[in-house]
Amino acid sequence: MIQRVDNYEEMSRIAAKLFQVAIQKQPGLVLGLATGTTPIGLYDNLVELYRARELDFHFVRTVNLDEYVGLTAAHVQSYRYFMNTHLFDRVNIQRDNTHLPDGMAPDLAVECKRYDEMVDSLGGIDLQLLGIGRNGHIGFNEPADVFSTGTVAVDLTDDTIDANARLFANAGEVPKKAISMGIKTIMLAKKVVLLATADKKDIVEKAFLGPITPRVPASILQAHQNVTVLLAKE
Ligand code: F6R
Repeated sequence: MIQRVDNYEEMSRIAAKLFQVAIQKQPGLVLGLATGTTPIGLYDNLVELYRARELDFHFVRTVNLDEYVGLTAAHVQSYRYFMNTHLFDRVNIQRDNTHLPDGMAPDLAVECKRYDEMVDSLGGIDLQLLGIGRNGHIGFNEPADVFSTGTVAVDLTDDTIDANARLFANAGEVPKKAISMGIKTIMLAKKVVLLATADKKDIVEKAFLGPITPRVPASILQAHQNVTVLLAKE
């Protein structure tokens, strides 16, 4: 299940190939997408394939895992802004086909419900991309007593706030809440690709070789039928 690859570049290239094959096979598929530092190389590779006319995003639909509560789409640290700048603005995807939770929604419970219904209306996720938090989170499903099901508004743990502070002026500016797709929705994706850089080796091994527990949310992926983990050696 864990495929060890030489380095970040190789991980990004192999992942891009998996995405390219999936999109070519099913041009209107639903991609589940992630933000964070890890998938940037994959997105760059997808943009290169698009520019080389080896990939067409015209019919592709996307749903993202999560969004910070309280950040507008124009905020440079919002996940909408991230997706636009790293992928959507650089390929021929139709903007109406790209979906993220709305972190500015006035009622978070209503927004979570809307997001689940939207994912359902698309027929679920064909190919889900994941990163992994150093505490084992996927999406923003933090370690907990039970696995989440549908989309949830979550309080970010101090560990996650600390890990993400590098992208903000200081830890105080990191939003304390986020909206995250739930574990059940992720588990219903037909295929999952999880990317991890070398610094995530210990948590990846704990998640995929240790017991399945909501204390390590990614461990649930052991119960998924079609998961590829690409772990970079350096
Ligand atoms: C991002 C997300 C998170 C990240 C994880 C790893 O949409 O859902 O679970 O995948 O926090 O982030 P990086 O890649 O920055 O180490």
